[in-house]
Amino acid sequence: TGPHPGIHDLSLATTHYRLDHDTLARHLGVDPAKFHDGLGQDSMSVPAIDEDIVTMAATAAAPILARHGTDRIRTILFATETGADQSKAAGLYLHGLLDLPTTCRVVELKQACYSATAALQFATALISREPRQQVLVLASDIAAYELGSAAEPTQGAAAVAMLISADPAILRLEPHSGLYSGDVSDFWRPNYRTEAVVDGATSISAYQDAVQAAWSDYQRHNNRELSEFAAFCYHQPFTKMAHKAHRHLLDSTDADAGLEAAINASTPCNRAIGNSYTASSYIALACLLDHRDDLAGQPVAIVSYGSGSVAEFLSGIVQPGYRRHLRTTANVQAITRRTPITYERYRTLHQARFPTDGADHDLPQESAAPYRLAGISGHKRIYQSRK
Ligand code: CAA
Repeated sequence: TGPHPGIHDLSLATTHYRLDHDTLARHLGVDPAKFHDGLGQDSMSVPAIDEDIVTMAATAAAPILARHGTDRIRTILFATETGADQSKAAGLYLHGLLDLPTTCRVVELKQACYSATAALQFATALISREPRQQVLVLASDIAAYELGSAAEPTQGAAAVAMLISADPAILRLEPHSGLYSGDVSDFWRPNYRTEAVVDGATSISAYQDAVQAAWSDYQRHNNRELSEFAAFCYHQPFTKMAHKAHRHLLDSTDADAGLEAAINASTPCNRAIGNSYTASSYIALACLLDHRDDLAGQPVAIVSYGSGSVAEFLSGIVQPGYRRHLRTTANVQAITRRTPITYERYRTLHQARFPTDGADHDLPQESAAPYRLAGISGHKRIYQSRK
């Protein structure tokens, strides 16, 4: 019957620091309930000075490689909005740090928060052609907005690493997903900016409309109702957005409002991490699998949205025995071990910029992660492994 590619292993990593929304609310003079209840966020991950998308992705991927080896990996797809270089793929730094085989292709994918889903689809296509190979998919981002902007409380940072194989232990991806693309300027980041520009109200309606259109397309290819999914893993720029989008979808299909519970187990991790752009839907998936009762044999939906805008409604079947392969303790620890910081420290980190004149610039050691950005020299990023 051929290969049934899907997620064989899944691991997450986040930052050394966290800023609590109570601290941010106090500084901004805002009612903390706006953040906790209105946006559904409790804290946000803040990178240390020596952390970036590469160090987070390498930290997420290392335990996967330790468990499965690297021999069968022939493709590395690195999905990110936070590209560190206009030319060199972030996956190549990771390739060096993790000592991955030279016999593989490495490429970076960009489309706001959506591109990890494209990476999954490209991986399944490659594996369908050559089922012995495995594909390492990384999704790693730092969501940064201007200080004092409405979007500031929706910042965050995290990475997910996924090993895609023909015989997945966790989630078999189904072949026909629902797609939508349209040219919308709801959130974007010109090359000269480190912080995204966003039209908040437009972004919320663009997300809802794109998801609804992707679901309509899904129904054209699959004979399944919303009520048949055991759970939904939405992209979560802030966790309330998953509820808004899900309610919008339920209203548009006259589905039972009781289905709202089907997203609850997917939100607690992103509630603590904040937006992680490309990683967000897959952190939702890890959170769901780690914390819900047995889902073996059941269909779950992944609802991916990237401003600009692209949405994909994809589905997978949770595999028998999947619980043995989860990384629940490590995932929980990645979130709970972050060090809380003051508003002043957060502000300093937010405003830190590296020199752009090619001068040597060493970075102090802050992060306790196994990989760190040691500095910049001659315009090159220098990474270090502690292993
Ligand atoms: N107690 C409880 N709730 C409160 C409250 C209080 N004291 N004060 C306000 N609220 C509620 C509001 O009623 C509102 O809830 P509803 O939306 O359910 O009505 C919620 O808190 C937010 O309040 P505002 O709408 O006044 O918030 P805001 O205008 O200050 O900013 C935002 C909200 C536009 C989402 C802003 O955070 C933002 O621009 N974020 C970035 C953009 C974004 O994340 N867009 C999401 C879709 S795009 C996408 O998904 C891609 C991506 O990753 C960026």
